[in-house]
This record gives sequence, C-alpha cells and structure tokens, in this order.
Amino acid sequence: MSNTLDASGVGGDTPNLDFDGTTPYEDYVQADVLTHLQQLRSDDPGEMVFLVTTQVMELWFTVIVHEWETAAKALREDRIPVAMDALKRSLRELEALNASWRPLAQLTPAQFNAYRGALGEGSGFQSAMYRRMEFLLGDKSASMLVPHRGAPRVHAELEKALQEPSLYDEVLRLLARRGLPVPESVLTRDLSLRYEASPEVEAVWTALYAAPDENLDLHRLGEVLTDVAELVWRWRNDHLVATRRAMGAKTGTGGSAGVAWLEKRATKNVFPELWTARSHV
Ligand code: HEM
Repeated sequence: MSNTLDASGVGGDTPNLDFDGTTPYEDYVQADVLTHLQQLRSDDPGEMVFLVTTQVMELWFTVIVHEWETAAKALREDRIPVAMDALKRSLRELEALNASWRPLAQLTPAQFNAYRGALGEGSGFQSAMYRRMEFLLGDKSASMLVPHRGAPRVHAELEKALQEPSLYDEVLRLLARRGLPVPESVLTRDLSLRYEASPEVEAVWTALYAAPDENLDLHRLGEVLTDVAELVWRWRNDHLVATRRAMGAKTGTGGSAGVAWLEKRATKNVFPELWTARSHV
C-alpha cells in the first residue's frame, strides 16, 4: 500500500511514504547494514573517519576488481571494446578512490596515536581485496594468502585469483593472437608467480608505440593500461605520504618497517614494459 502524502500531510506529486516492510531502497542498497558496520574501538572522535575511509576504499577496491575481471574476460574473448569500457570506468573509479585520501592526508602523529593502539595488529596489509587488485595487475605471490588461512571464502577467492591469468597476461595473449612476437615463455609462464618484465615484450610495445596507426586499438589499450598504472602508483604514493605524516619512521601495526617498507612497494612498476618501451620510441 502507498499514498501520495508529503511529510506535511499535503497531497501532490510527492514520493511514496508507505511500504510494507522495509523500503525498496533498503532492499537494494542495504544501507542499514552498511551504516551499522562502524564498530569503533576508542573514544577518539577522529577514529570514525579513519574507519569509514578504510571501508570506502575497500568498496572501491571491490568495484575496481570487478572492472578488471570484466576486462580480462572480454580480452580473452577478443571483445576489445567491452574491455576498453570496463578499463575506462576503472580510471574514474581509481580517481574517486584516490580522492578518498583527503580526510586522512594530513593526520598528525598525535591525532593518529589517539586510536592507533586500538587497531592492534590490524593493517591494510591484510586487505584481501587490495591483494586481488595486485594479483590482477600481475603482482602474484602465494605467501600473500597465508594471512587469510582462517577465512575460507576470502582464501578461496584469492587462491583462484592467484592461479588465473592476470589482466596483463590476457593483454599479452591478445597481442600474440594478433600476430605480435610475444615469446612462448611469457605465454606459458607459471601464472601463480609475479610477472617479470621481458625484453621481447618491451620490443612489442616499442613497435606498437612507434607506429600507433598500424594497430590503433592495441595502442589505445596500451594507453588506458598506462593510465591505470599511473593511478595505482598515485594511490601508493598518497598512502606513503599520509603514513609518513602520521607516524614518521615508526614500525607499522602490521609489523613491517613502516614507511621504509612502503617506499619499496611504491617503486614497483605496474605493467613494466609499458614504461620502459617509451625510452626506445
Ligand atoms: C594515515 C593512515 C594510515 C597509515 C599510517 C598506514 C600505514 C601503513 C603501514 C605502515 C603499512 C605497512 C604494513 C604494516 O606494517 O602495517 C600499510 C600497508 C597498507 N595499508 Fe595503510 N595506512 C593508513 C591508511 C590506510 C588506508 C585508509 C587504507 C585503505 C584500505 C590502507 C591500506 C593499506 C594497504 C592495502 C597496505 C598494504 C600495501 C602493500 O601490500 O603494498 N592504509 N599501511
């Protein structure tokens, strides 16, 4: 049953107010679940935005993984326009993800310390969805499954992602099907290992970039992947700078050397040959 009364009781073209049970909005969005997932662990008023920013980033990781899996599947089926659409959506989503650093970007050590102790050994390093993003980019590592042994669903998803071709593996297989000389050793590599840059693959991208018109769709694919790589690098870098501001050179809650460890992670190149090929064009 529904009526057309607005909040003041005056009729008109106003939204429906009466629903049997929960609202259709709630049934779809599950806002009640989402907005009651904030279990604070301290009395500090600044903890709320730290927790919600982390949750918001987890949601963006989930969307981006979905886009990159869509793109990988489309590439496998030679549906380049479908892959391009998903990759382009992921660029806007990566920008939104990166913008969500703003509320945490200027934390002082005293502000962070006010709830840091309450986090215990919790660290973003244990984020399974971030790890799936890294796996899709080609940065595979079986040891990254170890923290998730106690969570069967998450572990199974990560195990599957570890064994499957990454987004970049699918790109290189497509280049090979298009007659470009991607070496057999790259095409048949052990997919559960980190992708290692190959001089032959660099030469393939160099040739593509030297004559973009000959394979315009592949050149455009290369550019959208470069945009993805740049935005991932920006996320890592913003994380690094926010961490340096909030805790200097202290060790991380996850047990790493903190900023020094993150600095090393931030220098890793995503889709390495797409960057190195540029020196030869
Ligand atoms: C200003 C607040 C933050 C600080 C000080 C901080 C600090 C750190 C540190 C020190 C590490 C290294 C591992 C460790 O020992 O813990 C780390 C890793 C990580 N953090 Fe944060 N972090 C912050 C906010 C966030 C947020 C909001 C997210 C969003 C989910 C996040 C996601 C991650 C991820 C994914 C890693 C692992 C990176 C990798 O494996 O390369 N961090 N963080």
